[in-house]
Amino acid sequence: MSAIDALCNRVLKNQRHLTKWARREGIDAYRLYDRDMPEFPLAIDCYADWLNIQVFERKRPLTVHELDGICEALAAELAIPRTQVTTKARRRQRGPDQYRPLSNRVPSFQVGEHGLEFEVNLGRYLDTGLFLDHRNTRRIIRDAASGRSFLNLFAYTGSFTVYAAAGGARRSVTVDLSKTYQAWSRRNLAHNGLNGTQHSFVQSDALTFLERMRRARARFELIMLDPPSFSNSKRMHEAFDIQRDHQALLRATLDLLAPGGELYFSTNRRGFQLDPGIAELARVVEISAKTVPRDFKRYAPHRCWILHGT
Ligand SMILES: C[S@@+](CC[C@H](N)C(=O)[O-])C[C@H]1O[C@@H](n2cnc3c(N)ncnc32)[C@H](O)[C@@H]1O
Repeated sequence: MSAIDALCNRVLKNQRHLTKWARREGIDAYRLYDRDMPEFPLAIDCYADWLNIQVFERKRPLTVHELDGICEALAAELAIPRTQVTTKARRRQRGPDQYRPLSNRVPSFQVGEHGLEFEVNLGRYLDTGLFLDHRNTRRIIRDAASGRSFLNLFAYTGSFTVYAAAGGARRSVTVDLSKTYQAWSRRNLAHNGLNGTQHSFVQSDALTFLERMRRARARFELIMLDPPSFSNSKRMHEAFDIQRDHQALLRATLDLLAPGGELYFSTNRRGFQLDPGIAELARVVEISAKTVPRDFKRYAPHRCWILHGT
């Protein structure tokens, strides 16, 4: 058996394990393979009848020819058209390059998750529009949202806002620096028939927004804070580093948390250490064991905490 045959067998075996669960949960998009075999440092995600393959760095990178062979073989084994298998190099990047456009020819489409619909695009950007590792966190936000005001900071395509709106949030504010992603967030709400005027969008640097809201004495009962590890957009005054700056960011966000409210904070930064001083600002509980879904347990990509307002 060739190495590629062994890879296909592993992916098919994983698929057999996961499809029943995914159907039961109403999930179209999930991780099928996560660096299971050291000779294939790949993450393979299915998004309905598409596959997205991310290639991680290693000493000897896969050649284009090898990667092509893998795509061909997986497309054949999983009965997916070869044109619906996309690949991306996953490098540790900083700054604007993170969301560099890749190919405009790949169409956008919608995937279902827990009864909701999300627009994804597997070709245009490094990320697809839906971070699959936060699927459980989104459901937690839906369950916590009823009757509450919701703030989604660093919102990307607004998936947390969609869940909060579906869960009955009284109102929501979705904040992101990017015009493209704000438009995507609006479309995601519209795809679910949730685009009422109680849901508003602010295109702004999150730190500037927090300062403005603090001065206006605004309060939110439920807040999602899922910042990038680094941000050095031209529109920001200075570069942001989650490890260095999270205490100040959490302090500024807690200023907007209503008494009895909940702030969910998550980061993907590898080796992240939560500043112990945070415990003096709020009651903090790590909930990563609940938020990391079963298809991501092998390499938990994020950690998540809940901070209770006092
Ligand atoms: C890691 S994603 C957030 C993921 C999102 N919470 C989700 O689960 O879908 C980072 C987002 O932060 C936005 N962003 C980066 N720097 C920002 C800043 N200073 N202020 C507001 N948004 C920013 C980017 O445009 C991007 O949409």
